[in-house]
Amino acid sequence: MSKGKFYLTTPIYYPSGRLHIGHTYTTVAADVLARFKRLMGYDVKFLTGTDEHGEKIQETAKKAGVTPQEYLDNIVGEIKDLWKSMDISYDKFIRTTDKEHEERVQKIFQKLYDKGDIYKSEYEGWYCTPCESFWTETQLKEGHKCPDCNREAHLAKEEAYFFKLSKYQDRLIKYFEEHPEICYPESRKNEMLNNFLKPGLEDLCVSRTSFDWGIKVPFDPKHVIYVWFDAVSNYITALGYGSENEEEFNKYWPANVHLVGKEIVRFHTIIWPAMLMALDLPLPEMVYGHGWILFGSDKMSKSKGNIVYPEPLIERYGLDAIKYFLLREFTFGQDGNYTNRSFISRLNSDLANDLGNLVSRTVSMIEKYNGGIIPEPIEAGEFDEDLKSIAIGTAAKVESAVDKLQFHDGLEQIWKLVRRTNKYIDETTPWVLAKDESNKERLNTVLYNLADSIRIISVLIGPFMESTTFRIWNQLGIDKGQGTNWEDTFKFNLIPVGTKVEKGESLFPRLDLEKEVEELEKVNIEYFEKISGTKVEEEETVVIEPKEQITIDDFDKVELRVAKVIEAEKHPNADKLLVLQVQVGNEKRQVVSGIAKDYKPKELVGKSLILVANLKPVKLRGVESNGMILAAANDEKLVLGTIDKDIASGTSIS
Ligand code: MSP
Repeated sequence: MSKGKFYLTTPIYYPSGRLHIGHTYTTVAADVLARFKRLMGYDVKFLTGTDEHGEKIQETAKKAGVTPQEYLDNIVGEIKDLWKSMDISYDKFIRTTDKEHEERVQKIFQKLYDKGDIYKSEYEGWYCTPCESFWTETQLKEGHKCPDCNREAHLAKEEAYFFKLSKYQDRLIKYFEEHPEICYPESRKNEMLNNFLKPGLEDLCVSRTSFDWGIKVPFDPKHVIYVWFDAVSNYITALGYGSENEEEFNKYWPANVHLVGKEIVRFHTIIWPAMLMALDLPLPEMVYGHGWILFGSDKMSKSKGNIVYPEPLIERYGLDAIKYFLLREFTFGQDGNYTNRSFISRLNSDLANDLGNLVSRTVSMIEKYNGGIIPEPIEAGEFDEDLKSIAIGTAAKVESAVDKLQFHDGLEQIWKLVRRTNKYIDETTPWVLAKDESNKERLNTVLYNLADSIRIISVLIGPFMESTTFRIWNQLGIDKGQGTNWEDTFKFNLIPVGTKVEKGESLFPRLDLEKEVEELEKVNIEYFEKISGTKVEEEETVVIEPKEQITIDDFDKVELRVAKVIEAEKHPNADKLLVLQVQVGNEKRQVVSGIAKDYKPKELVGKSLILVANLKPVKLRGVESNGMILAAANDEKLVLGTIDKDIASGTSIS
């Protein structure tokens, strides 16, 4: 019997390039949640798709020399292939260029216009093209940069339609207070309240005339509907809202969870709920804003060439290893750093050592000590009760963690059981029991308990790594239905006595960490180069030959100070030298420096540099130099050391 409906969604992706592992993170998490809910008996609807309108897509297609539709069809095909290769169990894939979606969005727009919640006016604001977002001057970062992506925004003015977002401000604040789940985790809710809701909402510009790749405003077709208005509507148009038949919509709406990345929480917890309020529809039960996977402490980005794509990882290590890593390594909700080393380490420790070993040791022992047949448990002994109580207590803990979207904790709970079961082998020492025929009944019980614990583990890991589950079942000799339902994970003694086990290939072979990290680095770079057509420059590694160590007293002898350049000119007698006049506190100094190849005199004026202030004066090609400027230099170039924030000249550096 169904436990009820469960509707969950991922963001719909911009098809503006290949998806990297950061993108797959959201979808893998959603997939695991969907699979859990199905396993638990919910009637699940899992929606994903692509966000295909807007200026950015139009521009990208133009650059590629094809129509937007041609461009999109190709790339959306790639995205669907990726989800297929990642075994993503979505129930519906929506494209915002689907005719049905377009018609339904027009209906929504018309409805809000008729109601007076959309009106015509003129818009002037700062527009960030890559994010398709308008910003007010105060929201911009220094230098008119977009607060989301840090790229330059430009001033744009146009006749436009507006949605009365401001009208919903008080209702939204009240809703936030009464329904904290509207924005998880807590920190993001506070950010929305303090940065947007409480300071006051402005009406939202919801149409554009500066480009035409979008859904037309039904009663004024020179306007296209703002891409975010179009995009968030997908969550209800996909269920048939605004169509002849709203049966599915009535069944599944409101969404149980919208999973989104942290930078789009604002659209999902302010704009979207306000639109729903205007449509008199219930709000989603939970919006969860997860953190970013960073690469070398930066968001992955094509321009930085630091992207890791899932395809080569899947090919080399299998899908389950990637899914496991993504959800175990990072705390959902927080940012986390991807490194090849952390990936291989997890694979070795959790998958090869803990899980892989447990299964292979158990199956081998059943083969060796009982002819490959799962024996009947007869003689109970020490450690059994502890193992059993942990085994049957794990599912509830996993369920609670997954309900809170704490996937890493869910996996940790399962791994506590994996480790406990491994420990049970060490405690009961079956190889010692096997030496004496009088221990046979006890040995049989130990083997049975091991097999039954693995059965529970195999079911619990299913939503995270289904093919590993099947591989374990193959080795245990069991099939779906033989203790493999969700309810069965709360019970012990379900694996059928007499089942024939069969040792298979090792689930996760152990890898040589150092070698593999090096290999993986190459594999990722090769893949990036292949699909982007750009060459990744190798970073130079400087081999350091350390000098003799010094004491702090030695260092104290050197007087380093901030020196501000007032004037700079070429040395009259040497091409490589510049003559700088610098301010050092209340003193003016002249310093000659060998930086003419890398710096023009003009660009130095105003810079705060690092001066060795107590160096004995010398004459360099006839000009006196009173101190030395510090710089990093190799055979090719020289870069001056500078002071990165404003501080008075003369300030001591230590
Ligand atoms: N089209 C909008 C979403 C509209 S939803 C109605 C969009 N698309 S996106 O392709 O740019 O991003 C989709 C999702 O991928 C976002 O939730 C974003 O946070 C996520 N990620 C992109 N890079 C990421 C990481 N490096 N790490 C984790 N998630 C990341 O925004």
